[in-house]
Amino acid sequence: MGGNGPLNVTQQRLLLLGPPGAGKGTQSVRLAEEYDVEHVTTGDALRANKEMETDHGTPREYMDAGELVPDPVVNEIVVEALAEADGFVLDGYPRNLSQAEFLDDMVNLDLAAFLSVPEAELVRRLTGRRVCPDCGATYHVEFAPPEAAGVCDGCGGELTQRNDDTEETVRERLRVYEENTAPVVQYYREVGNLVEVDGTGSPDEVFAGLREMVESNDAV
Ligand code: AP5
Ligand code: MG
Ligand code: ZN
Repeated sequence: MGGNGPLNVTQQRLLLLGPPGAGKGTQSVRLAEEYDVEHVTTGDALRANKEMETDHGTPREYMDAGELVPDPVVNEIVVEALAEADGFVLDGYPRNLSQAEFLDDMVNLDLAAFLSVPEAELVRRLTGRRVCPDCGATYHVEFAPPEAAGVCDGCGGELTQRNDDTEETVRERLRVYEENTAPVVQYYREVGNLVEVDGTGSPDEVFAGLREMVESNDAV
């Protein structure tokens, strides 16, 4: 439901922040559909190019260990994606202060939303996540199971587990998040346009909270 009138004159430029497993991907897909904007996600872009040779090696070397892929590689992905998008929802970028400054020089955001979820819940969500390699849909063995175990509802693809969703790598990703990305959240808090949304409800409840933030932001 986009509505008519002035709200649609310019397209939304949204940023979703949150730790691994907070639901950024789940909610970004919904926001992109609701506001008819591009879903720009460095994680998916990197997974699609895991074996790409760069001056810094391949993305796989970093991703499978739960470490950040070097800034030049990631910044280039975002420059290209944003050049083609009027409105967008950014998911998984920026992840450190230097990426945040790079983004600031490139675009103005309408809203940065932080999804907050406690750590124990993050680990449960990530270790139970299953993804469809064919269409990108995300499931959870317990919280969002497909109709038939292991099979994508949308396209019939065979569901897999991400390499970095093992408990050990999840712990490392959470550590990397605290060290590099938590300061980015603080940065947006200080520059002013950060809103915090409770990420612990059902996906529908979390989406309702996000929508409310986007629409009340428009009204200002
Ligand atoms: P990326 O793919 O971005 O991974 P991440 O940030 O760790 O985030 P996730 O995708 O794991 O979590 P999410 O918040 O999207 O959760 P989801 O919606 O799937 O990055 C992967 C790697 O790429 C990085 O480690 C790094 O190496 C590299 N990289 C990416 N961007 C980079 C950058 N900018 N700079 C440098 N390196 C970069 O949900 C998780 C699970 O929970 C699902 O199973 C879902 O079904 C379930 N779930 C979702 N919402 C709910 C809910 N409300 N209730 C119950 N379950 C739920
Ligand atoms: Mg994701
Ligand atoms: Zn699928």
